[in-house]
This record gives sequence, structure tokens and C-alpha cells, in this order.
Amino acid sequence: MKRLFVFGFGLFALLSVQAEQHPVYLDPQEPVEERIEDALRRMTTAEKIAMIHAQSKFSSPGVPRLGIPEVWMTDGPHGIRPEVLWDQWEQAGWSNDSCVNFPALTCLAATWDPAMAKRYGRAIGEEARYRKKTVLLGPGVNIYQSPLNGRNFEYMGEDPFLASEMVVPYVQGVQENGVATCVKHYALNNHELNRHTTDVEVSDRALYEIYLPAFRAAVEKGHTWAIMGSYNLYRGQHGCHNKRLLVDILKGEWGFDGVVVSDWGGTHDTEEAIHNGLDMEFGTWTNGLSSGSSNAYDNYYLAAPYARLIAEGKVGTAELDDKVRRILRLIYRTELNPSRPYGSLCSEEHFDAARRIAEAGMVLLKNEGGLLPLPVDELHRVLVVGENAIKMMSVGGGSSSLKTKYEISPLEGLQRLLQGVEVVYARGYVGDTDGSYNGVQSGQHLEDSRTPDELIAEAVAEAKKADYVIFVGGLNKSKHQDCEDSDRTALDLPYGQNRVIEALAAANPRLVVVNVSGNAVAMPWLGRVKSVVQAWYAGSEGGTALAAVLTGDTNPSGRLPFTFPVRLEDVGAIATGQYPGTKRNDGIYEETYADDLFVGYRWFDRKKIVPLFPFGHGLSYTTFRYGKANLDRNRFSDDGELTLSVSVTNTGDRAGDEVVQLYIRDVESTLIRPEKELKGFSKMHLEPGETKTATFTIDRSMLAFFDDAQHAWVAEPGRFEAIVAASATDIRTRVSFYYDK
Ligand code: BGC
Repeated sequence: MKRLFVFGFGLFALLSVQAEQHPVYLDPQEPVEERIEDALRRMTTAEKIAMIHAQSKFSSPGVPRLGIPEVWMTDGPHGIRPEVLWDQWEQAGWSNDSCVNFPALTCLAATWDPAMAKRYGRAIGEEARYRKKTVLLGPGVNIYQSPLNGRNFEYMGEDPFLASEMVVPYVQGVQENGVATCVKHYALNNHELNRHTTDVEVSDRALYEIYLPAFRAAVEKGHTWAIMGSYNLYRGQHGCHNKRLLVDILKGEWGFDGVVVSDWGGTHDTEEAIHNGLDMEFGTWTNGLSSGSSNAYDNYYLAAPYARLIAEGKVGTAELDDKVRRILRLIYRTELNPSRPYGSLCSEEHFDAARRIAEAGMVLLKNEGGLLPLPVDELHRVLVVGENAIKMMSVGGGSSSLKTKYEISPLEGLQRLLQGVEVVYARGYVGDTDGSYNGVQSGQHLEDSRTPDELIAEAVAEAKKADYVIFVGGLNKSKHQDCEDSDRTALDLPYGQNRVIEALAAANPRLVVVNVSGNAVAMPWLGRVKSVVQAWYAGSEGGTALAAVLTGDTNPSGRLPFTFPVRLEDVGAIATGQYPGTKRNDGIYEETYADDLFVGYRWFDRKKIVPLFPFGHGLSYTTFRYGKANLDRNRFSDDGELTLSVSVTNTGDRAGDEVVQLYIRDVESTLIRPEKELKGFSKMHLEPGETKTATFTIDRSMLAFFDDAQHAWVAEPGRFEAIVAASATDIRTRVSFYYDK
């Protein structure tokens, strides 16, 4: 518009007419920020208010009069949620909304491979695009604080550095498709029990060093276009309209220019929502939780109540314009991006990506005497035991539940791969026989009326006749297991599985235990079982991937993204008694994170507790030898850096991948610091006998801690150690260096 004013009146009139014919806001040649301002000028207050809240379960209106499109959201984060009715959670009944179920994010994190995260993001982004979605509600990066959190399977583990490295490529891959990610749940939503009523207090150090880095990376490096506020409170204010988290940190310190979306029903106050950084309110019914009036969406906090405050002159429109600007920016980045691709659904490439990620994420936890891989050529009869060998896991677990085109179970995967071998199945135990979620039916009928003793007797009798026994158990997606809106109540395996495993171990020493879960579980029988595999919720091709890992077609290379404790009491958040907080008279639970910085391996290091399996742990069918860590020099200052190199040799007789982990230890520090912290990793493929060198750049940012007094990241001069390790407890080589101011 600027140029219109420099010409004479006649020309001005002519250009004005032309401008109306080709309005700036519709012209892809014009800069986006100018298009946003032009669109904003044309909108009425009512149209602006309409844009900032839902019109249905998963959509908000655009501006039909101006041709500005609607925004459509979808869960996330492991596949594209099937379509629900306009205003009900039940299925819309589409027959073309089946998707690929990608492995759960714990499995992705366990690949320790950012290239896999990129591939995951691209593939799921293509599915979202094909299904005409504007925003994918994911990925989740809440830190794994305790194994009780029912939603850990949707997140990327206990370490802020690992989660940061994995979330960025996921975001980039999705957004390449012109679909926004909505990284969730910002922030401090670390358990599901009382998720709407927990008020978290945490030190600034733990907030900045542990709980925020993955969100920050998603914003500053991944450039996510949306973020979802969390249900819980932080210092007395809900996450969806928390001034400190949203205004000061997200939009202030990190310069986030995207949209803050409320979690569904996470908004509780109009004035706070206006002023404290929420841009779009979603939910169900009026308050998102219980029933509403006839047109409930009009009564959302950011709907009629907001319009009334403006009409009464109690609030201005500056905040409204800021929210609408952000939503328009999102729409220009997505729906109105003329060059975005078309996407695709259930392609061969997507199933292949799901399989590769599943294979790369599975973790060989234990393998005594080389029991695995299965000696395929020598096998006659293999017994598979356990409900999770047959149970579909894509259905259930809450909002991440899917309707997948197919899901290969572990039993099917083994049957397909072990051609010519008799693969027998015994149930072993009965867990959760329900296979439905919001009207999606798995179609499985898992009821079994036999008693536990009868089931065990059958499995044991079969085990005695088998060359190998593969028990596939763990958790599932039902309430109090790995499931949204509830937490687990114990670390133990449910449904009497320990008894089944003990009985099988006594019957046949060639027993492999496969744990399907998104969480750590107790393994009191570990001393009697030679091989254990952590198989996660591995998605549509999970059974194929598991069979490949068990037979050695794929050499396992996953590493744990969180610590497995021996006992629940070994976990910081449990030992401190902080979980689940103390109930106040008003029903709010106050929870102070007394474990502070010491989450996951940081706690085990500090308390010198031996874990069942450490963070970063994972075996291979080959072995790796590390050389000595070398530094190009042993001091640096300011913005300088060091290069660390370490050679790794595959000393076995099959190709494999090693994950070289770099931890940094601050030897002398004014403030208390964890014993060591992950600051780098590199997954490398090595042929038998091959040697490669892993190199890491060490700079100031890797030495810094968050000084709450100065509100700044500080690297203190002094001695540090670079620790090169194969897990948090398997240190291979270490070297000292100095940082000078
Ligand atoms: C969950 C979100 C989800 C949303 C929409 C909420 O209950 O916490 O993660 O994206 O529902 O289904």
C-alpha cells in the first residue's frame, strides 16, 4: 500500500481499484507480514473473535467473507487420528481415514538418530497433509520424570539434550509439508494423575536446564509454528494462560512468533487468556470438561465473554490483534502456502519408515551367552507366549489412539519370518481384553475364561517342547497402564506376568522376554532370564521389526532414552515424596519438584544408585572397542571450541551401529551440578573390523548452567571432563580440559 501514496490522485484511484481486485492479503507475491496486516484491517472484531476459538472438536473458522480458510487440527503424535463427529468424540464413520501407526515417540527417541526423526516427521507430515490438516498436535517433549506417568510413551525420554536433538528434525520434517507442528504440553505436565489440578513449583535452574530445553529447541531451531499449553498449573496459573511461561519465556525470551493453542479444555479464565499469551482456545463443550449450553463454543472463554469485555470497553483490541496476527501467520505458512506439497496416506514409503524406525529403536537390554539372535536354521519349534504378542496397540491410550490400516503383531511378524519353523502360541495371562477407543474397534476378541493357573500350565507344557520361548508382555494402552489421563500405580508388570515369566524360565532356559511398553517396568526375574528386549509400541510394522531384531536380520541398535530403576523408590520424584503433591482445601495439588535438577540418570549418579538398566544402554549382536578420547587442545575460552575425537572399532563378526555418547562433567563449580550431563551423541554404522572416528565439538554452551540469580547461562572457568561412554554407566574413555574466561 505504501507506494500508492507517492503517485498523483488519478493514479492512486486506479491503483486502489487494482489493489481491491488483487488484495494484498491474497497476493502470494507480497511479504507475509504485509498480507497479515492487510487481512487484519479488513476483519471485524466479531470475525477476529471467531478465529481465536474452536467451532468444532478440531477446527476453528477462518473468515469465509474474505476467503481465509479454516484451521484443522489433528492428533498426533504417532499417526493421524481418525475423524470424529463435529461435536462428539465418536467416530465420523469415514472409511478413508486409516493411517500408518508410526512407532511411539519413546521408540523414536530410542533410535538416538536425528535422521530417523526427520524421516518420521516427513512421513507423518505427508499423512497429515493428505488428510487436509493444518496442525499436527505433537510431538510431545515433556521430560520423563518417573515411570508412573501414563503418557511417557508419547514423549522423548528423560534427557533434555536427547529430546532437543530429536524434536527439531521431527518438527522440520512435518513442517516441510506445510503442516504445522504443535509441540506439547508446554510445560511441566509430567504426570497424568490430577493433570488439571496440579500446581507445580520448580526452581528456575531445573525449569531452564531440564524441563524447557526441548521446547526451546523446537522453537528456536525447529521453528515450530504452534505450541500447546499444558493442563497443569505453574506457580498458581494454568499452563494455557501462564504469564511467565507464555509471555515472558516463550514469546519474550525465545521470540516465538507462532500460535499458542490451549490443550482441550485447558482454558479457565478469560482475562488471563487475553493477557497471558493464549492465542486459540480448544476444548469440548463450554469448559472443555463437562456439558455445555446449546452453542457451547460461543461461551468459550475466548468467545462471547471476550467480545463483551471489548464492547464494554474493559479491554482494548491490541491483544486480540496480536492473537489474530499469529493465527493468520500460521494460515499463510500452511493453508495459504501456494507451494506446499499434496501429501500422501498409507504409502509403501510410510510403512517402510515405520518399520525402519521401529527396528532402529528396539533395545537389546540383556543377552547372556549370546542366546539371541535366534539360530534360525536350527529351529524346529518356537513357543510365543503372552497377550502382547497378539494384542493391537494402535487402539487405546487416549488422544493418540489410531485407526491404522494394519498392525503386524509380534506373533505374525515371527510367523512370517520363521518360515518352515513351527511357531506355537500360548496366551500365558489375560490382561486387557477391550479393543475399543472412541468407537474404533480393534476387531479382536481376546476374552479367555481360563484361570491363571490353567494358562500358566498350558504355557509351561508347551515351553518344555520348544527350542526357544519368546514371552511378549509388558503394559498396554488401557487405564493405569500407558494411557492418557491416568498414571500407573506400580512399577511391576500387571496381570501376574512375573509369575508366568518365572514359570517359563524354570521350564526352558532358552527364554527371551520382550517388553512392550512406553515405560520402565520392574524385572524381579532378571537373574533367571538370559535375554530381554525392549520393544516399545512399535506401530504398524512393529511385529515385522521385532522379528527382524530377534532373528538378527537387523542388528539391534536402540539405546534407552530413560533409566530403568530396580525399584520405584530409586526414582527421584518418588524418593522425595513430591509426587503427586499435597491437596489444598480448594482441591489443587501443590507439587514442588524436590528432585530439582536430578531427574533420571542425574539422580542415580548423585545418589550412587545402581539402575536396572541405565540411560543410554543397549546391546548389539556385535561388540565395539573405543580408542582413547583425544582433544585437539586442552583449553579454550569465550566463544572458542575444542574438537574431541574418539575411534570406535567393530570387534565382532557382524555389521552394527554404535551410539557414542558424550557427557560433560563440571569438575569445579560454584553451584551444585549433576555429576555429568549428555551433551553429544553420534550413531555410527560399522562393518565387521571397521574403525571410524566420532568427532564432537565442545563449546561454551555445553559447559554452561543456568544461574538463577543472574537469570543467565553461565560457563565458569575451570576444569571439565569429557566423558565418552556407551551408556550413562558404561564409561569408555575420559579426558580433562580447561575453560578460561
Ligand atoms: C490431550 C492433547 C490432545 C488433545 C486433543 C487432550 O486431552 O492432552 O494431547 O492433543 O486432547 O485430542
